[in-house]
Amino acid sequence: MGFDRAGITQGFATAESPLVADLLQADSRPLEPALRENGDFVPPETTIPFGRYVDAGFAQLEMEHVWKKCWQVAGREEDIPEIGDRKSYDVGDLSYLIVRSGPREFRALQNACMHRGTRLCTGMSAAKSIKCPFHGWEWNLDGSLKNIPSRWDFPHVSDAAFHLPEARIGNWGGFLFINPDPDAGPLAEALGILTRHFGPREAEDRFTAVGFRKKLRANWKQAQEAFLEAYHVIETHPNILTYNGDTTTRYDIWDDGKTQVSRLITPAAVPSGHLGDGGSRLQAARDALQTFAMPFPGVTLPEITSGTTGRAEVAEWRRQMMGQAFGVDFSHCSDSYMLDATQYFMFPNFWPWFGEGLPLTYQFTPYGSDPNECVMEVRLTLPVPPSGPRPPAAELIDLDFDTPCSSVPALGIMASVFDQDFSNLPQVQIGLRSTRDGSATVTLGRYQESRIQAFHDMLDRKIAGN
Ligand code: FES
Ligand SMILES: [Fe+2]
Repeated sequence: MGFDRAGITQGFATAESPLVADLLQADSRPLEPALRENGDFVPPETTIPFGRYVDAGFAQLEMEHVWKKCWQVAGREEDIPEIGDRKSYDVGDLSYLIVRSGPREFRALQNACMHRGTRLCTGMSAAKSIKCPFHGWEWNLDGSLKNIPSRWDFPHVSDAAFHLPEARIGNWGGFLFINPDPDAGPLAEALGILTRHFGPREAEDRFTAVGFRKKLRANWKQAQEAFLEAYHVIETHPNILTYNGDTTTRYDIWDDGKTQVSRLITPAAVPSGHLGDGGSRLQAARDALQTFAMPFPGVTLPEITSGTTGRAEVAEWRRQMMGQAFGVDFSHCSDSYMLDATQYFMFPNFWPWFGEGLPLTYQFTPYGSDPNECVMEVRLTLPVPPSGPRPPAAELIDLDFDTPCSSVPALGIMASVFDQDFSNLPQVQIGLRSTRDGSATVTLGRYQESRIQAFHDMLDRKIAGN
């Protein structure tokens, strides 16, 4: 069993599958500073009624107090690499036109024409100006008014008053963030510990190699919560138990009253504690090696002969493979950095992953005004070769509600795991709506689901206006 903090048992280890803290101590390299830090926030146990996942009224409260008030991730700079490139960022019924207005300058403009309201941008596009397709009203990339056909008919329209309204926009680590609230604090405050934990190699010096944008029949919170814990692995992903340390996963939460960031570290190349004496570190290292090698068909793999050193051997193989492929020196990176699934979440919708174990990023948004639907964006990112040039970002593949990830061959081994996760979400949403008893509440594990509890604690504070 794990050690206690605030009376909470933290994880379940076996002889073959130590806790993350013990694995980190035995790492073959010095740990990165981020992996040496532990969160100290223990969320209060508040009640989470089913209703907050299904009520349109609660969704409206979230629009007012979260999506109109918080710094939220809206994409990556690399999505719009040239001046004039733009994309829409849709959150519920709100929409923003995110445009690169200068070499290193971005704007988040109202995505509705000031003439009669036409949407100005859907998905990705590019042009030298922003022109409405209905009557041709036109703005410069900085949002200033450029032209109105038959301007003589609009003596009541001044250039100054018809600048497209803007939300605040900020960038960090290659990501773009917006905040519609002009009185909000700076982006750096919202990022909390992320600015300390992530360096260029974990953030801006990466490119989107492949990714998708998936519509889900699930409330945005319910969908996020499916990724905040490894507790579901035993039932939802039983095929990975031989090399995935679900029961020893470490959960950390940082909360300074203004922002909240949480993290999980699920170790790879160790067996699940659920396998008990049936789990083997040797088999775990071998299975992890096979999985990490899948994107490199035909590559020669080392023979792993020892359970004791297997995890370090897989990490070393990965340092060499990744180093050769991208020209990056990983020689000083820890085994954990190279292997483990280390995933951060910043309230309300930003999910950067750390290290090379599983280098993903997620972004979630409510979809339209129906609290039963949301959109999840997933990117697999890879290091930009230091010798350049920066590879172009892959455009995210749109997947409709009923389109599985497995329909996209480019998603490779990611597809089946995500499809397993996505198979649960509509069923959860249906269940949440189906109880006759309005007092039904979710029941969370104290440690493994502590990030969900913390997420709702933060949400409560935001809705209370704090
Ligand atoms: S609605 Fe945009 S120009 Fe008329
Ligand atoms: Fe999962």
